[in-house]
Amino acid sequence: MDIKYSILKLFKDSRGEWLSAEDLRKRYTISRTVLWKNINSLRDEGYTIEASPRRGYKLTGIPDLMLPFEIRDGLETNMLGRGKIIHYRETDSTNSKAKELAESGYPEGTIVIAENQLIGRGRMNRKWFSPPGAGIYMSVILRPVLSPTDSPMITIMTAAALADALATIDLSVQIKWPNDILLNGKKLSGILSEMDTERDLINYIILGVGINVNTPHTILPDDIKNTATSIMIETGRSFDRVNILKTFLKYLEQYYEYLKREDFYNILAKWKECSNVIGRKIRVDLPNEFYTGKAVDISRNGALLLEDTNGTIVSIVSGDVSLL
Ligand code: BTN
Repeated sequence: MDIKYSILKLFKDSRGEWLSAEDLRKRYTISRTVLWKNINSLRDEGYTIEASPRRGYKLTGIPDLMLPFEIRDGLETNMLGRGKIIHYRETDSTNSKAKELAESGYPEGTIVIAENQLIGRGRMNRKWFSPPGAGIYMSVILRPVLSPTDSPMITIMTAAALADALATIDLSVQIKWPNDILLNGKKLSGILSEMDTERDLINYIILGVGINVNTPHTILPDDIKNTATSIMIETGRSFDRVNILKTFLKYLEQYYEYLKREDFYNILAKWKECSNVIGRKIRVDLPNEFYTGKAVDISRNGALLLEDTNGTIVSIVSGDVSLL
């Protein structure tokens, strides 16, 4: 860890205590100027550090940003977020950035995160509303040794992990196949998984997740005002985005371990427990056709199984569901 972050860790571990400049300089064998430069660099990142000529330095504020150091601090994963975490104050789309990194060989577990996305992307060429500092806009590179036909499981496991993570803050969400997370019937979170294959093998998957955390209702664009929501809108209070992300990564890694072992049982069990479609009459719109019927199950590879009026089971890999 570079000195700057060692100092930051020490500040955080000392929980608001003053740390003398003399002690800091001795501990890291650095000059007064180097100490000062590191303190200022932390301030530039958004940390509030008070200085007193007699008492030294004290950390009094952590910025409300998804900073890599904060994500790693107390992160309970072995792989996700253990390598590089790339943080942007503003970018076009974290999925697009992660794709570039994956193409240039970045390993599995690399995370791209942004405070603000200018062209946040959703499924079917939709936009993902990504106002600065309000939500979690994150993409992770995965390189699973799986057949591409099992790839819909990636979205399924992500939805299950989101449900588990949000349950830790007492939110009981529903999963709307294939990639929507609903809270009180409105869309709270979306998953965009983009795959690159080579000779029937997955080269990489960019798993993008957007969660509306502290987004106020007043700034929701008109076209989603009645259908989207945020944790803040539903609970009336703001939440720490970093903590939510860390919890989510922990569950995601757990489910990913199941997936790599082709042990789909736990993933599907959680998914079905939270699904709002199983057992319901639905319509599924595909680009050029649609199906209606009862959603009866989800298959091992994430396809929705629909029983049509003739009792025939149709397996649907992707589409837009509406409840009838
Ligand atoms: C959807 O519901 O259609 C999927 C939305 C996915 C949004 C996330 S935000 C982070 C990542 N970067 C993007 O451009 N999109 C995904």
